[in-house]
Amino acid sequence: MAEKTVTLTDNTSGRSAEFPLLQGTVGPEVMDISRLYREMGVFTYDPGFVSTGSCRSAITYIDGDAGKLWYRGYPIEQLAEKADFLEVAYLLIYGELPNPEQLAEFERVIRYHTMINETLKNFFDGFHYDAHPMAVMVGVVGSLSAFYHDSLDIHNPRHREISAHRLIAKMPTIAAACYKHNVGEPFIYPRNDLDYCGNFIHMMFATPCEEFQPDPLMAKAINLLFILHADHEQNASTSTVRLAGSSQANPFACIASGIASLWGPAHGGANEAVLDMLHEIGDVSNIDKYIAKAKDRNDPFRLMGFGHRVYKNFDPRATIIRKMCHEVLDKVADQNSPLFELALELEKVALQDEYFIERKLYPNVDFYSGIIYRALGIPNNMFTVMFAIARTVGWVAHWLEMMDDPEQRIGRPRQLYVGSDLRDYVPLDQR
Ligand code: CMC
Repeated sequence: MAEKTVTLTDNTSGRSAEFPLLQGTVGPEVMDISRLYREMGVFTYDPGFVSTGSCRSAITYIDGDAGKLWYRGYPIEQLAEKADFLEVAYLLIYGELPNPEQLAEFERVIRYHTMINETLKNFFDGFHYDAHPMAVMVGVVGSLSAFYHDSLDIHNPRHREISAHRLIAKMPTIAAACYKHNVGEPFIYPRNDLDYCGNFIHMMFATPCEEFQPDPLMAKAINLLFILHADHEQNASTSTVRLAGSSQANPFACIASGIASLWGPAHGGANEAVLDMLHEIGDVSNIDKYIAKAKDRNDPFRLMGFGHRVYKNFDPRATIIRKMCHEVLDKVADQNSPLFELALELEKVALQDEYFIERKLYPNVDFYSGIIYRALGIPNNMFTVMFAIARTVGWVAHWLEMMDDPEQRIGRPRQLYVGSDLRDYVPLDQR
């Protein structure tokens, strides 16, 4: 079959050129404009990359209109119902679901990389006790590159794999240490008899004073949330990781840059911002006032946990997590219910409002994730850290994919320059 192309013509100069139209496995066709500047002498302008594909990827597929999310071809609904987080991690990284032996070996490898170098613990003391855990995460994860020199040759596939394992294994340990530093309790070492989520819960909530067993409902909820947050194709933080990696920076530095990007309230910081917003609203009687604020162009207030760049009908992760919200809240103390009731009422009012309907603004995954985490006893400032633990798998999978991509080059966008035209330097005494 002949290659499909698009012909572009510059009406002013009359210059014309053909550009290939690429077809992925599914999804819209993609116009390859990599030769545009050479052929036509112009750049494209696309703030926020609304119409721009930055790479080929075989990891995650999203159809925003249909509310579809697939990891390596598997729908998120099936993985959320049936899989374990480390199984999903294996799938995202290696491309196929593991067989029982492969999964057992992967779990063993991750388990035996969970400890952090004892010296690394000193880093935490450099932070004030009330430092935001995301600030600590950026610093401590970035510092890993100063510890693991034996796996830093990014051109060696085995080194890349070891770094990937280390990152996935150590994130929960570092995250729990951030929390312990915050509350002034001793760090808890990982336990090899527990699974990934159980071990994280143990490191968060155990103390050296007594025996501790992770709560199974908590482990189930965290497993589900980690699966839902594991990857989301070329979102802001993943694109940040890829851009950092494109300069051949080491993986620990790249993931630290991803954590920094995730922190913003428009992205991973939204789960913390939702809870702050619910507290600010305070009561169902104030909902109308806040909906009006969200609609007011002159007011910076936005309804946190609403809207998504890609999903324009519903966020499939939100549908799955909404059910878990009920399950968790049914089992935990009543004190969380008023907050959840306020959230449900806010959701109802917004979904019936013309402003939100017209703009296709629906609750996203993070409208609910913070409510679940809070009900489980995880403090607000740890919500985005939880997201970071899960998304590390996606970041690592994309970094590995990029490092193997023959088309990979340093990421270097161009711009539309709107600054001053050429002018001469004016000596200081004449200004
Ligand atoms: N509340 C009120 N208005 C909104 C909201 C909101 N949450 N989100 C978008 N809008 C309006 C926006 O003002 C604009 O209106 P108009 O056309 O009149 O100017 C229109 O909807 C389109 O919005 P946009 O800012 O162009 O959309 P975007 O694709 O650039 O932004 C978003 C997407 C997620 C950053 C944005 O919807 C938002 O800020 N939401 C709240 C933060 C949030 O929940 N983020 C978590 C996303 S899911 C987790 C993740 O994957 O990170």
